[in-house]
Amino acid sequence: MGRDGAGARERKRHGRHYTPATLAGFLAGRVAARIDSTGPVRVLDPACGSGELLFAIRDALAGRLPGTPVELVGYDLDPAGLALARRRAARSGVEAEWRQSDFLADCAELPAESFDAVIANPPYVRTQQLGGAAAQALRGQFGLRGRIDLTHPFVAALPRLMAPGGVLGLLCANRFLTTKAGANLRALLLADLTPVELYDLGDTKLFEAAVLPAVTIAVRGAVRGDCRYVSVYEEEAGIAPDPESAGEPTADPGTVHPEIADPRIAGGEIADVGIAGGKGRDPGAAGSEGADLETAGSEGAGEIGAVRAVLPPRRDGSFERGPTRPGPQRRGAGQSPAGRAADARGGSRARGPDSCAGTANEERELFAALNGTTDAMVWRQGRRFAVTVGELAMEPGAAAASVGWRMSRVGHDDWLRGVSERMWRTFGDLGRIRVGIKTNADKVFIAAHWGDPADEPELLRDLITHHDLRPWWIDRSRRTRVLYPYELTRTHRVPVDLARYPRTAAYLERHREMLTARGYLTGAGREWFEHWVPQRPHLWRTPKVVFPDISDRPRFALDRSGAVVNGDCYWISLADLGGDAGAEDMACLMMGVANSSLGLRYYDAVCGNRLYSGRRRWITQYVSRLPLPDPGTPAALAIMRRVRELVAESEPGAAGQAELDELVDRAFAG
Ligand SMILES: C[S@@+](CC[C@H](N)C(=O)[O-])C[C@H]1O[C@@H](n2cnc3c(N)ncnc32)[C@H](O)[C@@H]1O
Repeated sequence: MGRDGAGARERKRHGRHYTPATLAGFLAGRVAARIDSTGPVRVLDPACGSGELLFAIRDALAGRLPGTPVELVGYDLDPAGLALARRRAARSGVEAEWRQSDFLADCAELPAESFDAVIANPPYVRTQQLGGAAAQALRGQFGLRGRIDLTHPFVAALPRLMAPGGVLGLLCANRFLTTKAGANLRALLLADLTPVELYDLGDTKLFEAAVLPAVTIAVRGAVRGDCRYVSVYEEEAGIAPDPESAGEPTADPGTVHPEIADPRIAGGEIADVGIAGGKGRDPGAAGSEGADLETAGSEGAGEIGAVRAVLPPRRDGSFERGPTRPGPQRRGAGQSPAGRAADARGGSRARGPDSCAGTANEERELFAALNGTTDAMVWRQGRRFAVTVGELAMEPGAAAASVGWRMSRVGHDDWLRGVSERMWRTFGDLGRIRVGIKTNADKVFIAAHWGDPADEPELLRDLITHHDLRPWWIDRSRRTRVLYPYELTRTHRVPVDLARYPRTAAYLERHREMLTARGYLTGAGREWFEHWVPQRPHLWRTPKVVFPDISDRPRFALDRSGAVVNGDCYWISLADLGGDAGAEDMACLMMGVANSSLGLRYYDAVCGNRLYSGRRRWITQYVSRLPLPDPGTPAALAIMRRVRELVAESEPGAAGQAELDELVDRAFAG
């Protein structure tokens, strides 16, 4: 691997993913806009790396409060990052205190209320990578619960250090907005702080990241008024109707990947750092040596430097709104159906007005839109992004933190209230939503063509993967099968006696080395030839609703074949819905809602947020929140009937889908 590859590995190992200058400028501008002080302004970055955020806040404050002394304090574990920060500071005549120390260990020694602002892009390292003991210690020290990542203790430490009215500018993974594990962070941001601005930067790729970024601005103490909430996601005009576009799935964020869950492995290197900067550092900015540490000569760095020069924040921290380009309108807004269809066919990628030019311009327009008060459409590297402006919808009481955050918008909220009023139950109320099997040795267990074990076909089961799923039906043309060495009559995993299957035993024996490398399995007292997660063997034969974990659109289908479901999909067994004819009706109702336009709109408003390129995750915690109408109503009965027809058709057409959409709308209409 080239220099870049090695650099990326190093960054990942040590969590050294720095914020690009433009994003640092935006974050700093938003923080500075809320600081009013005549005396010295003290600013802390608890994990400062090469100091990008501190340099940015200094610039922003110099613009907003000229002549006001600014005292910068940066902590970091990494001497190389700090050395770079020092050199940059010396070169540009910036005074700052750089402390090489473990902030989490040493923060208790800092006096309370000693900072007017904190600006941070803390390391994002998940519990699994932290290791159980370290995570437990951090939970105890910072009063956290459940699954944590390193962002949580960093944020937990901050309110005490902030003066009343002090401002926090936080850049972190946007997952906390919607995931169960994010409840810690949501609670922290609501306890002693008040969030005042939230930017879900979605799939803008403002910098390269394993996860998508969000910016939160919060103030210490109570603040009147709503929290502004802006999100940016690629417009969906280009969504391909091809289910293959769902790409390779990743593990459920709520699922501990077994390789990582194994404590002996978990103690190892830090393998996942979410907020990854790297590209677009600003070698042109005063004192910047970004190229040393990051992507030397990275494309676009110069352009981004130019943006910074063109676009200083105003005194109030906002940016000048970019000129409006006579570009395409927001999908659906004033466009004819024919135009929308053409749009969808052409996709957004190919038609960006400036798709090859003007990255600096694009960034300027993006940041201007983020600062704007109305929805906007911006272009970025040939892709079209919808900037949506609303407010943070606050649930009352404890639910404010326990329930994922969503955007509230005029008009939209009335619709949501109407659906909620007519909701009978949620999916989660009715049955378990399970992830599929995880073998952790797919090369051994999963194949379309089998040798020896094919002679003992009772252990080979059809396997449904995300490739096979369409809305309503399952395309089994791939014929993928899984070697499933379990007794199918047992409710819990009971591995078969391999002596009864000599050809399969010989096959597995040939792969013993690979299988026993999963030491966590045998370490847990299990057989070396087992799957890591085989799920419930006796349930496969019962019909089930199956859907892929990652997909741009819902693809819920009914399986009656007895196939096993792979770990890139989720499933709901009809046994959990009662197992009788009523269960199939209920399954049809669920599929009807899930695969409808209303279901998708509800998902976007309430359940989850999107990944790159419009992909969505359809995991338990999101799907369980989807609504169901009362199954006894005529509208619900009509949905069930229509879904039965759709399931029976080999390739349901658009007309059937449109009719279903209408029925679902009717079921939730007043
Ligand atoms: C995501 S980087 C952000 C750096 C910088 N603030 C920026 O935005 O460019 C996180 C930084 O946290 C540092 N770090 C990790 N654990 C730390 C700890 N316990 N105390 C202080 N710094 C830490 C890493 O060395 C890394 O430089």
